[in-house]
Amino acid sequence: YKRVTTKSLVDMKKNGENIAMLTAYDYSMAKIVDGAGIDVILVGDSASNVMAGHETTLPITLDQMIYHATSVVRAINRALVVVDLPFGSYQSDPKEALRSAIRIMKESGGHAVKLEGGKEIKESLKRILNAGIPVMGHLGLTPQSIYKFGTYTVRAKEEEEADKLKSDALLLERLGCFAIVLEKVPAKLAKEVAESISIPVIGIGAGNGVDGQVLVVHDMLGMTHEFNPRFLRRYADLHTEMTKAFEGYRDDVKSKKFPSDDEQY
Ligand code: KIV
Ligand code: NA
Repeated sequence: YKRVTTKSLVDMKKNGENIAMLTAYDYSMAKIVDGAGIDVILVGDSASNVMAGHETTLPITLDQMIYHATSVVRAINRALVVVDLPFGSYQSDPKEALRSAIRIMKESGGHAVKLEGGKEIKESLKRILNAGIPVMGHLGLTPQSIYKFGTYTVRAKEEEEADKLKSDALLLERLGCFAIVLEKVPAKLAKEVAESISIPVIGIGAGNGVDGQVLVVHDMLGMTHEFNPRFLRRYADLHTEMTKAFEGYRDDVKSKKFPSDDEQY
């Protein structure tokens, strides 16, 4: 396998090849995602929702992110592994941000980190990038700020927020980030941002005018069937499939059809 690097992602944008990115939080899932040729695996702090059942991404800790990332890194042969810096691990000061990023790189073996925000975290981004750690930005709907926003609705519909988003994207490029996730913003704005910078913009709920797409793997597999945003396309209905499997197993155990003569020693 030829490994995906931060450089190859920028080249993909140059060549007009869109980037396919999915989340993963554990070894078994990451092995399948990597084997399918997904370019980037994000160890997202969405693990807080999907793996731990929290309502927001705020509670997940740096240690927990490192545990997830370590499991993912063990599984991959090709994909670039990007790890979210969780809430509270980088906002208080740039030195702490760098320490957190270093812990992720050293302890998990991940290839890059992702931080939410633009101008507000400029000094932290500089410090992390200066240490040689590749950074993916994240603008638009930034779930770690959910209590500031108040809702998970589309961001940057007003001109003021759209202008800030555009200047933040330029700033992230100028600082040396290798890519930016753009979450839940109008497609027209996302396309404009993608065309204004040379690093790839990877969208989620940001339309088709960007340089790649990302989805939460449990959502696209249809495991989280109560979560129905417009941007989500389901590529499987695992909630139904898994329920059938579990019910089949339960029935076979109750009726003593499992195990059969061939399934014992
Ligand atoms: O944590 C996550 O899954 C993310 C993606 C939705 C971009 O940040
Ligand atoms: Na995230």
